[in-house]
Amino acid sequence: MHLSSFFMKGRTVNRKTFAKKRTVKYTEKTMNSTNKASIINGKEIALAARERVKAEAASLRSKHGVDPALVVVLVGTNPASKVYVRNKGKACEEAGVRSIQHDLPEETTQAELLLLIARLNADPQVHGILVQLPLPGHIDEHIVLEAISPRKDVDGFHPYNMGRLVAGTPQLVPCTPYGVMRMLEFIGYDLTGKDAVIIGRSNIVGKPMALMLLHKSATVTICHSKTKDLPAKVRAADLVVAAIGREQFVKGGWIKPGAVVIDVGINRTTSGGLVGEVHFDAASQRASFITPVPGGVGPMTIAMLLENTITAARLAIGHKAKA
Ligand code: GUN
Repeated sequence: MHLSSFFMKGRTVNRKTFAKKRTVKYTEKTMNSTNKASIINGKEIALAARERVKAEAASLRSKHGVDPALVVVLVGTNPASKVYVRNKGKACEEAGVRSIQHDLPEETTQAELLLLIARLNADPQVHGILVQLPLPGHIDEHIVLEAISPRKDVDGFHPYNMGRLVAGTPQLVPCTPYGVMRMLEFIGYDLTGKDAVIIGRSNIVGKPMALMLLHKSATVTICHSKTKDLPAKVRAADLVVAAIGREQFVKGGWIKPGAVVIDVGINRTTSGGLVGEVHFDAASQRASFITPVPGGVGPMTIAMLLENTITAARLAIGHKAKA
């Protein structure tokens, strides 16, 4: 059984509670051009998930003497990475998950980074390891990600965890697509037979997203920068996941009336605001449900990282119990 199904009971209860209060459930209604999409409030859904993590972390401490701990490694001074890492640390603190940050200089060699990872792999007090991407150009990202113990790989990027996702026996899965699945579940969206279009083929979002949707019996198309007639593909989609890394790329007119639109992107505008990859206002006129930026997928990614850390801490107990 997938360890994260451990969260399922609480999730269902919470979803119903929230659905009554705040979020409309998905129905197969036909939208007309005057309808406005319901917003999928990632902040609220993430908050509920983080509260469950907090309770789980407390229970692991009191019942098993395990203090769930996440180590985040940042190499260099990428400003966006610094913000992400700081937010991850803050979220851990609030959820009662111990967080340790290693800030390494830009000139850190690959061998030095691998040495640190080996030390963290061997440390029983460390349950999750996350190496923030992108890494400086002189370090091979694949070698580094493969060096992390699959049981501590809270990003779900290790080939072992990717393979398990492909095989349909996931253990630790990438946080962003995992968060998207949780949002779809929250609104009660049945993916069976739905046409899903993912824009973007990254290892972090696009590819694992496709597998997760496929496992829920959606018909999945992965589009990318070389895709022919992207607007036509998006127009045919019941579900659109935009994760191509291009600001305001998806036009409102591309959205099929009634489609569910998930915007994974986050970009800072010249005026200091944040925008996603979808023209939100125009798409909202056609979609049935849409995620905002900010306050959509972003908070979910961090909440799923915390859940993965709890899952990794549970894996560690299982490992000890078996030994
Ligand atoms: N950089 C951007 N997104 C991510 C992520 O989800 N995990 C890591 N490790 N680095 C990232």
